[in-house]
Amino acid sequence: MTETLQAELLTAIDAAGTPEALEAVRVAALGKSGSVSALMKTLGGMAPEQRLVDGPRLTALRETVTGAIAAKKSALEAAALEAKLASDRIDLTLPAATAPQGGIHPISQVMDELAEIFADLGFAVATGPEIEDDWHNFTALNIPESHPARAMHDTFYFPMGPDDIKRMLLRTHTSPVQIRTMLSQQPPIRIIAPGRTYRSDSDATHTPMFHQVEGLVIDRGIHMGHLKWTLETFVKAFFEVDDVTLRMRPSYFPFTEPSAEVDVGCSWAGGTLSIGGSESWLEILGSGMVHPKVIEACGLDPEEWQGFAFGCGIDRLAMLKYGMTDLRSFFDADLRWLKHYSFRPLDVPTLSGGVGA
Ligand code: DAH
Repeated sequence: MTETLQAELLTAIDAAGTPEALEAVRVAALGKSGSVSALMKTLGGMAPEQRLVDGPRLTALRETVTGAIAAKKSALEAAALEAKLASDRIDLTLPAATAPQGGIHPISQVMDELAEIFADLGFAVATGPEIEDDWHNFTALNIPESHPARAMHDTFYFPMGPDDIKRMLLRTHTSPVQIRTMLSQQPPIRIIAPGRTYRSDSDATHTPMFHQVEGLVIDRGIHMGHLKWTLETFVKAFFEVDDVTLRMRPSYFPFTEPSAEVDVGCSWAGGTLSIGGSESWLEILGSGMVHPKVIEACGLDPEEWQGFAFGCGIDRLAMLKYGMTDLRSFFDADLRWLKHYSFRPLDVPTLSGGVGA
């Protein structure tokens, strides 16, 4: 009787394919009203001699069944773990993503294009802090305290604390990078400095934060001819047109003498802008020969060192090249606009492949 039951139970345990099925077998055998438990209960009513014989047999049955269930349980658990590990396996040789996500903002794209064009002319990229002091942003650029140009810049000033010795501000142009570069490296110098600039101004053509690129060359024997050639070469490469016409108009900036504003020739045939010719003009930048006082403020002798500089709005360059009409849309973070105007991340501008990619 016990042999038959044991054989049946061992077969059932062996056949249980899941933890649930095994649990059902356990309850049917060892649970409160299970078959083995029922037999164990009969021991109490047995004659002592009978109990001496059946006691060890039934205990052995219970232990065999208990042991078989435990063994089967760990076998099932090990098999489940194996299956999970097999299904969780990742093939690391597969490509990470099917398509690149996101895009390059047109302003970043234009900055990359500028760096590429000017690197080819031997210019390095320089940077400076956006939180500047009065001296670098104005005084060293020949804009002293009482100069009217300070009022024209609509400067965001930081409040002065009682212990502050310098008045801090958000730089109103990238020109302070000229000063920082001349103070930190010896000429000859050839740099461009693209970056963020700030003025308290806001309408369809002005945003409180905007982007400029500054250019600076300091060397011996530099003259306006070098400036004109450099700007022409830059504009041709940037707009990817060969018949570019530049017009230099006399102007005034405190940090250059003489100063010139530069217009690029264009036409509006059919209502769309195209760069080239001289039908119409668009102002694109300010420039000039670095003022001797600026060179002096940086500890250099203006008799020995001369240079030219220029400053240009990057946002405007991007609008002219890629045909956006409202400056504010650059900073709206509208995904539809970004999808339309952004550039593919792997299309890095190169002179050989076309800077407009
Ligand atoms: N800093 C000027 C501005 O923001 C632009 C500028 C004009 C920069 C002439 C120059 C320059 O370097 O030579 O309006």
